Order: sequence, then structure tokens, then C-alpha cells
Amino acid sequence: MTHRATQLMTLPELADRATADFKQALGRDPPWIAAAPGRVNLIGEHTDYNDGFVFPMAIERYTVVAAAPNGLRQITLRSASVEGVATVDLTQPLRPGPKGHWANYPRGVIAGFLARGLTPVGFDAVINSTVPLGGGLSSSASLEVATATLLEAVTGRKLDPVEKALLCQKAEHDYAGMPCGIMDQFISTLGRENHLLLLDCRSRRFELVPMADPSVAVLITNTNVKHELTGSEYPTRRRQCETAATALGVPALRDASAALLEQNQNRLEEVIFRRARHVIGEIARTAQAADAVRRRNWAQVGRLMFASHDSLREDYEVSCAELDAVVEIARDLGPAGGVIGCRMTGGGFGGCTVALVETRAVEAVMQKIRADYARKTGLEPTMFVTRPAQGATLLRD
Ligand code: GLA
Repeated sequence: MTHRATQLMTLPELADRATADFKQALGRDPPWIAAAPGRVNLIGEHTDYNDGFVFPMAIERYTVVAAAPNGLRQITLRSASVEGVATVDLTQPLRPGPKGHWANYPRGVIAGFLARGLTPVGFDAVINSTVPLGGGLSSSASLEVATATLLEAVTGRKLDPVEKALLCQKAEHDYAGMPCGIMDQFISTLGRENHLLLLDCRSRRFELVPMADPSVAVLITNTNVKHELTGSEYPTRRRQCETAATALGVPALRDASAALLEQNQNRLEEVIFRRARHVIGEIARTAQAADAVRRRNWAQVGRLMFASHDSLREDYEVSCAELDAVVEIARDLGPAGGVIGCRMTGGGFGGCTVALVETRAVEAVMQKIRADYARKTGLEPTMFVTRPAQGATLLRD
């Protein structure tokens, strides 16, 4: 999906675009339009599959699915920017399509509805998105959640939101082969305007923490690189965390303290020790950051963000030169230059950084990052400011 033309569209504008694209492709109006946002994680990275805490927000970048019934027992899926039509035959058992194909995300979600006995009528759908693809802002989760939201309208059955997020997570596991945690699908489903969401990934209880201070802006910088390690390294990290938890005698790293880890250092392989140290430290930082946001102690939030990045780079080893370059530029600017904190966000090995910036300094910070990042890496970053956005919505049904 390309986002050149759509990058700066508001949600209503994107819905208009989706309607126009649908009309052009299929010659009629779409009675259903569903949308779901991408996300950025302020802090709490690689903690979700350790039963820990995450602290993300939905962003003002969305995937929109427009659809109309077709009177057949099949679903057709078109992407506004990729040639071709993917078809789902509702009379046959559903299976994943070719590895890496974008339609696997909606296919997996359709499979989740079928597994619950919720069979939709046949329909045609066209997908538009302003979430940068593969940029670490959960373009795939937004596609899954938008599809699930559309299917709620088509089947007339609204799912419990947590069940909906879990259904989408399972689609990602089974149809895209990515053993992700629950964070991305959860925030895309349950995000709230002007709020961060503190999620306990074990109990799935969450708290919406207001984030509407006009003096602080969330700046996202896309390094515009994606190292191919992402796919293979993620499951390895998951396994290393399980190894650490088993060695420490706890159900998940969530249950281990820094002291327990220290006591057992000699019994752990060095790399496993460092992985566990990141996760245990990051879970603590996430709780502290939530507390600091509640008290609007931005300086403290910023320190925790930088510490998170260092831990992800040194102990968890999921950063890369380009992410480090952005964070170093931000760190050099520091409070005097209007930067409160900055870190990589998402799975790592490329994608985006998230920074908290004094609103009055946003333009200057963007200019500096753009210039220095180009000098250091020879690459152009993409940057934008976003407020915490609303989770999935049905725009038309
Ligand atoms: C990816 C996964 C999430 C989470 C992050 C790292 O975005 O989809 O579940 O594990 O990486 O925090």
C-alpha cells in the first residue's frame, strides 16, 4: 500500500478516498467503512510476551476498509495500492495464502470469525492505509483490527474488545507466522483520543492515562530502514525469555525481580542474563513512566525513555545504527534543545523512534534530526507529530 498521496489525510478524508477508490474499482457505493489506527509505544518494549506492562497510544494514521455485499459466497479484497484481487471462498476451509502476502492478515481475521461460527455474507472490500508499511507502527495490526471491525458490521455481532484483539493476534500468529504479543492489536482496538494506555499484558486490565498537555508533543521519526532480521530475531528473543524464566523458576519474567536475577547470574548464559535484565528493567521503567505521566513529570519520563533505548540496544540487541543515530541526535539536543526523551519503538531492527518534544521546539528538532540523520546515514527520515488517537471505529454501517 502506498501512502505518498494519503500520508497527511485526516480520517474523514481517508474515508472519502476509500469510498472513491471503492466506487472506481467496483462501480457502486460501499455501505460499510471500518477504520483502525496504527500505534506508537511510549515505553515497555518486548515486555508484552513476558506478561509485563506496555504503555502505547494509537496514532492518527489509519487503515480503512470499505466494503459492500456482493450476493456471492465469497469475499474479494483489494488494496488501493497493490495490483490484484485476493479471494476468500466461504464454502471452503480457509488457509493462509502465500507467505508474506498482505491478504493473509484479513484472511486470518476472517478465519477467526468463522471459527466462532460467525459467517459473513459475501462482500467486496477495498483497503486504504496511511500507516507506513513495515515501519514499526503496526500497519499489520491496524489492517487486522480494521477487518475485524468491518466483520462486526457485516455479521451484526459486536465482539468483546479484548476478545477482538486476541482474535486479531491469533490471525497474526497463524496466518502471518509472527508470534507477536498482544500490544499492537490491543491498542488499535482500545486506544482513546488524548490518552496513553497502560496495559497489564497478563490480566489484560488497562488504565487510560490522560496525555493532553499542550506543551508536550509526540514526534515520530521513521528511519526508513527495515533490516530483515526482524522476522527471525523476534521468535529467538521470545525463546530466550522463556529460557530465562524457566531457569529462574518463575512462570514469566514478569514474576522475576532484579534481585532474583542477580542471585542467579552464574547459572545463566551471559546472553540470556542480558535479555532478562532488559525485560525486568523495562517492566519497572514502564510502571515508573506511567506514574511520571500521571504527575506530568516529563523530565522523568524522558530519562526513562533514554534508559529504555540503551537497554534495548545493549542488553536486548534489537536496535540498529539508524535508530541509534536518531536517538543520539535527540540526546545531544537534550532538554536545552527541547527534547525530553527519545527511544526506538516497536520490534526494532529499523522502523521508528518516538520522542517527547517541547511543542515550541518541534520545528527546530525536526530540522536538526533531518539534517544530522542525513549526514550520518545518507538517508532521508520521515517525521510527523501525532496526538493519541481513538481506536477502531465503524465510520459507516
Ligand atoms: C512487535 C510485536 C508486539 C511487541 C513489540 C515489541 O510490535 O507485535 O507484540 O512485542 O514488537 O515491544
